[in-house]
Amino acid sequence: MGTGPALSLHSLALWTLYRVIMSQSSITAQCGEDVTLSCTFPTLGLAANQQVNVTWKKPRADGPDLLVHSYSLGMEKQSEAYRGRTQLDPEGFAKGDASLRLRDVHIQDEGSYSCFVNSELGPRSEETSLTVLSMTPPTMGFAGL
Ligand SMILES: *[C@@H]1O[C@H](CO)[C@@H](O)[C@H](O)[C@H]1NC(C)=O
Repeated sequence: MGTGPALSLHSLALWTLYRVIMSQSSITAQCGEDVTLSCTFPTLGLAANQQVNVTWKKPRADGPDLLVHSYSLGMEKQSEAYRGRTQLDPEGFAKGDASLRLRDVHIQDEGSYSCFVNSELGPRSEETSLTVLSMTPPTMGFAGL
């Protein structure tokens, strides 16, 4: 009985570590491209039309996390830096999909993104990292010839 709590804490730590590692994904895009930052969560046991809150954040080195896009109680918020470029699909939430569509990728968009999902089943988070390549457009390269 004395070892019970210690053991479960240990397995909880391992499980958390496992989940963090397994859920990390990365994506590479070129400047100007459209990408989908993937975020999935389990919906087993979640009733249809159940409320789901989704928040996408981007950690910043020089301050608090940037709130990229959020959905809560049917209301959406979008960061000024991503104005008109990010899109969530609330219809996908029922299928456990809270992926964020990001259009016209900018160099400054590079970095890691965290997706936080809150539902009746509890909180869940996933991380995705985005690498942005700044290739010289071919037209500019040929213009110099
Ligand atoms: C969603 O967010 C709203 C507002 O913050 C909160 O009242 C509600 O409890 C949240 N729902 C879930 C399922 O976390």
